[in-house]
Amino acid sequence: MSKLKIAVLVSGSGSNLQALIDAAACGSIQGQIEIVISDRPGAYALQRAEKHGITAACIDKKSYENKIDFDIQLFNRLNEVQPDLIILAGYLSILSSELIEKYRGKIINIHPSLLPAFGGKGFYGEKVHKAVIESGAKVSGATVHFVDENTDTGPIILQKAVVVLYGDTPETLAKRVLAVEHYLIVKAAELFCSNKLKQEGLNVRILRE
Ligand code: GRF
Repeated sequence: MSKLKIAVLVSGSGSNLQALIDAAACGSIQGQIEIVISDRPGAYALQRAEKHGITAACIDKKSYENKIDFDIQLFNRLNEVQPDLIILAGYLSILSSELIEKYRGKIINIHPSLLPAFGGKGFYGEKVHKAVIESGAKVSGATVHFVDENTDTGPIILQKAVVVLYGDTPETLAKRVLAVEHYLIVKAAELFCSNKLKQEGLNVRILRE
């Protein structure tokens, strides 16, 4: 089975990207990371890509007068690759509807909570964990889902729970959730690249055979 072409979009340290790089390198993902694109020039994720000989591009959001020009650049850059799968790995910019339309069913995102809880506008990074702790929730976790037009609302692919401990801070909870994110994002990429994900409306069936 030929390897699928993967594009990974990042904004930060790239620990989720690193998990994907390591998994692709050991062959557990039937896919090849063709390009890593960051919307921020300082993202350490770009260095992680370069270290592994993966094309690393930055489309600096701040250098565009308006979002449309940024969206066009991103759309064109991705079109050069024609990825079979786009993974948002800690990516913080909103995708254009044109991009979502063109790659519908081929874009997955990792979110650091058990969606639909603690998702949507403004819920990213440590803000999520702060809200979880303030709510008194006893369980949090991570979610991988297909991306649709809204924020964190697409069909859920995988989830895994993480206990919220008494005395947890956003940092301590984030650390435990991040470890689960790394597991889920790799698992989801493996399943997608092995054609084992079947979207049935809002449900995603995992084909085990
Ligand atoms: C983390 O807060 C994670 O929850 C979210 O993006 C942030 C950075 O992740 N998905 P990474 O280390 O850049 O992959």
